Amino acid sequence: MSILVTGGAGFIGSHTVVELQNAGYDVVVLDNLCNSSKKSLSRVEKITGKPVTFYEADIRDKEAIKRIFQKEAIDSCIHFAGLKAVGESVQKPLEYYENNISGTLNLLEVMRENNCKNMIFSSSATVYGDPAVIPITEECPKGTCTNPYGWTKSMLEQILMDLQKADPQWNIILLRYFNPIGAHKSGTIGENPNGIPNNLMPYITQVAVGKLSQLGVFGNDYDTPDGTGVRDYIHVVDLARGHVKALKKIEENAGLCIYNLGTGVGYSVLDIVKNFEEATGITIPYVIKPRRAGDIAACYSDASKAKKELGWEAEYGIKEMCEDSWRWQKNNPNGYDD
Ligand code: NAD
Ligand code: WQD
Repeated sequence: MSILVTGGAGFIGSHTVVELQNAGYDVVVLDNLCNSSKKSLSRVEKITGKPVTFYEADIRDKEAIKRIFQKEAIDSCIHFAGLKAVGESVQKPLEYYENNISGTLNLLEVMRENNCKNMIFSSSATVYGDPAVIPITEECPKGTCTNPYGWTKSMLEQILMDLQKADPQWNIILLRYFNPIGAHKSGTIGENPNGIPNNLMPYITQVAVGKLSQLGVFGNDYDTPDGTGVRDYIHVVDLARGHVKALKKIEENAGLCIYNLGTGVGYSVLDIVKNFEEATGITIPYVIKPRRAGDIAACYSDASKAKKELGWEAEYGIKEMCEDSWRWQKNNPNGYDD
């Protein structure tokens, strides 16, 4: 039996395929490569020494998903495929709802037709909106999202909860990721943003490698210790391992479960700059800019539920996150285009 990994050529997906193969699972990847390169999967194969079965397919194409289920014995699905650029989602809401929601509905229908009812879904801390209380536990009510991308995650969570309630044979785990950064220790797979990065760490590494001149820090007047935004950064390899633990939970008939995947520690933008400089010896010039629309002051997890119920906790600290992000960027200044 195999695990279907949608979006498996992407940043988190490729790292998860490594951890799944290392744990002995057979993996089938479905990806339309709209935000990734097939090269990530050949590098995964080099890391693990095992072949990855790959289908270039789109989750909006139901017939294509059906063909994969006809060919492969799929036991469970880890569903990463989706569009994720917050700003773009504000410009192109229909494309985001179509891709993320219609695509997921197609996938769920084909899974049900094939009696495959195990699903791990990539959700996000963004579903909490501006959290009422931090650290954020899973009991914290979902909030008002500030962009269509966030709403796709929030709505898909609801769809999946309704599905599991209607048919308890489904095992569904919603994983709410905090801020994934870092890269595999080999320095051969990592985050490969298109154009100028929106997210903090890829922006910093592109300044470090000389592709961008300086970092803009979005606001230093938040109610945080140094005034800059505080987030819960998590190493992508830790995050990937969380999915392997979630699969074990699925194998024990999980029903519906929701877990935060974070470290429980918050770092400000300036903390990240300082830690990156210490870990790499490279100075990151920055200027303070106005706040970015839609940003919140602080967001970090209470990650104790995943520890208690999945036996998972993040192992890597901020130093390794910075070192590993930098190794990937330094070795691959143009990502998979090198
Ligand atoms: P990514 O863009 O690197 O990976 C997503 C993959 O999905 C890409 O390879 C892309 O080509 C593929 N894809 C997109 N639409 C598709 C479609 N219609 N059919 C087939 N494949 C499609 O992003 P990532 O950072 O690895 O994120 C993976 C998942 O985790 C996404 O669902 C994202 O929303 C979620 N997530 C990411 C973060 C983050 O900060 N990176 C945080 C929380 C949640
Ligand atoms: C982190 C901090 C910025 C860039 C986003 C999505 C969220 C989730 C993860 C998917 C903030 C500051 C950033 C820069 C800066 N994705 N910053 N200068 O906004 O916490 O989360 O990615 O689900 O939905 O919203 O991450 O890395 O963009 O920002 O000062 O050039 O860095 O203001 O305080 P964010 P981020």
